[in-house]
Order: sequence, then C-alpha cells, then structure tokens
Amino acid sequence: MIQVVRRPNSLRGKIFPPADKSISHRSLLLNSIAEGKAQVSNFLTSADCLSTLSCLRALGVEIALDGTDVTITGNGKNGFTQPTGVLDAGNSGTTMRLLSGLLATQPFTSTITGDESLRSRPMGRIIDPLIQMGTKIEGREDNRKAPLTISGGNLHGIDYAMPVASAQVKSAILLAALSAKRDTIIRQPAPSRDHTERMLSAMGASIDVSGLAMTLSPVDSSLKALSLRVPADISSAAFWLVAGAIHPDARITVKGVGINPTRDGIVEVLQSMGANLIIENRRLDGEEPVADLVIKSSSLKGTVIEGDMIPRLIDEIPVIAVAASVAEGTTIIRDAAELRVKESDRINTTASELSKLGAQIEEFPDGMAIHGVANLTGNQCDSHGDHRLAMALAVAGLIADGETTISNAEAVDISYPDFWEDQARLSG
Ligand code: S3P
Repeated sequence: MIQVVRRPNSLRGKIFPPADKSISHRSLLLNSIAEGKAQVSNFLTSADCLSTLSCLRALGVEIALDGTDVTITGNGKNGFTQPTGVLDAGNSGTTMRLLSGLLATQPFTSTITGDESLRSRPMGRIIDPLIQMGTKIEGREDNRKAPLTISGGNLHGIDYAMPVASAQVKSAILLAALSAKRDTIIRQPAPSRDHTERMLSAMGASIDVSGLAMTLSPVDSSLKALSLRVPADISSAAFWLVAGAIHPDARITVKGVGINPTRDGIVEVLQSMGANLIIENRRLDGEEPVADLVIKSSSLKGTVIEGDMIPRLIDEIPVIAVAASVAEGTTIIRDAAELRVKESDRINTTASELSKLGAQIEEFPDGMAIHGVANLTGNQCDSHGDHRLAMALAVAGLIADGETTISNAEAVDISYPDFWEDQARLSG
C-alpha cells in the first residue's frame, strides 16, 4: 500500500494510542502457563500480538478474543501440547524470543519460524543461555538464526551475564528459569524494560531484583493468573509527541500512556530538546504507571543520546531522528548498534529515507549525527516493511513541504493498525 501525507494546517485533538505491544504479548505468554482464567482488557490486536496468540493456541492454550478483551485459560506449568505444525512468529521478535523460553521448559520438540525479516535477526542471544540451561536447540547458520527447533525439559539454573541490554533475552531466560532446578541469576549490562519482572512478581513468582542483577528461584506451584488492563503504548504515543512538537500549530493530548521508567526516555529527551511537553494525571494501571501527555508546538534544540538512555527509547529512535532533523544544531545518537538488528537496519533505513526528504544525517556503526535543517521537502520514500519507520516517515510528511509518499505503508499493522485513521483525525 502507498500512503500520501501532506502538511495539515494544524494538528489538534485527543488521541488514545493503541495498547502496549510488550505488555500485550506478556499478558498472553505469562497467563498461558498460569493456573486459572485471566481477563485482559485493552489487548493490542495488532499483527505481532496476534502471532503470539495463534502460536499459543497451537500449543493447546484456550484463548477467547472478543474485540480487545481476552480470556486466557492457563495450562499451568509444562502444560502445553506438542503442536502439529511449525509455529509462526511472523514479524515478531518478542514472540519468537519469549516463546522460545517457554518451549525450553516443555518435554517435546517443536519448531518456530518467522517472516524474512525475523529469520534474518540474531537468535544466538537466546540460544546460548537456553542451551546452557540444558535445552537442545538447532537453528540455521550455525545455531544463530530461525527457524529454531527446540527440545525442552530438565532445565537447570544458570548465572548469566547478558552481553546486550535486551528485555527479550532477559524475559526468555526468566520464563525458562521458572521450571529449572535451582536459582537463575541474570546480570544486565544496563536496565531494559521490566514488564516481565513486574508481572512475574504479581503472579507469585519468587524474583528478587537488585540493581542490574536479578535472581529467580523456581517454585513447585504454577503462577497465579493475572487479570489486567493494558495501558497505551508509549512507543506508539511517540509519533504524536514528535509530530506535536515539530508542527507549527499543534496541541495534542495523548491519553493513558504507560510511563514505566524503563520506557519513558522519549519524554526526557524531548523535554531536554526544549519540547513543550507536560505530564498530567499520573496514576497506576495495575503494575504499570500511566499518565496523560500534552504536547504543543515547540522550538527544539539538538541533544546527545547515549549510554543507559538507549534501551529506554530504543524503538523511538527513528521518530526522534525526525525531531532532530528539524531541531536547531546537531543531535548525536551513540551506543545504539542494536538498531541494526531490529525489523530493519534502523540506522541505515532511517538515515537513507529521511535524507530523501532533505535531512542531513551521518551514519556511525552505533548511531548517527543529525544536523538540523530549516525544513524538510516531500518525496517518495519506503518503509522497508518496518512499522516504526513507516510511522516516522509519516510524521516527517506532516511537516514537510509538498507531498510525501510512503510505500509499504501497511507495515503499521504490526503495532498500530489505526495509525492512518488517527493521523487523518488529528489533521482535521
Ligand atoms: C521488546 C524489547 C525490545 C524492543 C522490542 C520489544 C520487548 O527489544 O526493541 O520492540 O517486548 O521485550 P530487545 O529486547 O531486543 O532490546
């Protein structure tokens, strides 16, 4: 699908962004091995979360979906049945990596694959610790890539220093560790999103977090089912936060957004760039802090984004690059080599596509330097099948002169199926 975007006179209104993708995946995965029924409301019915749902159904888990309400009947520990076909994680890294942690605990062999993008992404990062715990895994390219064939059961705890700050790797190990003999210790190089830890504690797991290290002690009983309402996704809200900041006539209220401190880097960075961004109505939604965010037209200045800040905004970097493209001065992004192994090589695709609109971007192996320009000019560009790039380009199109056309625009379905409708509504 090709989408055309033009600059509207103003961007105004209230927006309820879609539910959090990371929490939606976890609400299914963790409840599938719990005891009892869990009700999840405001579940994200995007392509990625539906991949998790269909894999779990193929493993014998009863899941009823009614609009955005989900009822999951947990099968308890080690209660999956061997699937009769290959499990398909589609485009979803979270599905493949977290589900591999659960498959590692099951006493049968199964195979999981994904689309071309997912089959090119690194899986050694979960294969290595899961093999150390006693799983047998065979993957393509010398056990580095999917499809993965996993034979599980009989795991033992490990003491594991993670080479990359990745919530997906951490979560895969934690899910396997629930059924291991003895404790598992995980040491992170930097904090990453902690939704799994929050949910595991609320479900009765014995998990002790101390700074960058955590210990999970396996218990005989299953987890307790956890009903929850999924907050709005800050990674989807990010598009409107940037659009509101850089459009000359904007006022947007983004409602009910998860502002977990491991995810809220975009708010801190936009404020440090001078954005007119305020946080209202802070509250708790189950295990997660949420708030309403109000953004108005702003004059942005360049900034430096590096170190421990990177995992707190890793998925927002393509749209932050749009903000930096029209900020005064230079923005430097470093320590973000992980961007090269996302749904696309996001350093390369962000730099090359935004350059087509007149942005001045230099690529580094682990980031970029973005030299602010006075304005962007519409052109033909491509999402590379990457949902976050499609939406970042749309935000650029909302302030560019002339017309911006985005090919492969249907990629937004991965995390934000109503994106084009919301964009039309805010544009009046
Ligand atoms: C996610 C973790 C991040 C993020 C991804 C979702 C998760 O990936 O980029 O979109 O739900 O755990 P990494 O764990 O690979 O950093």
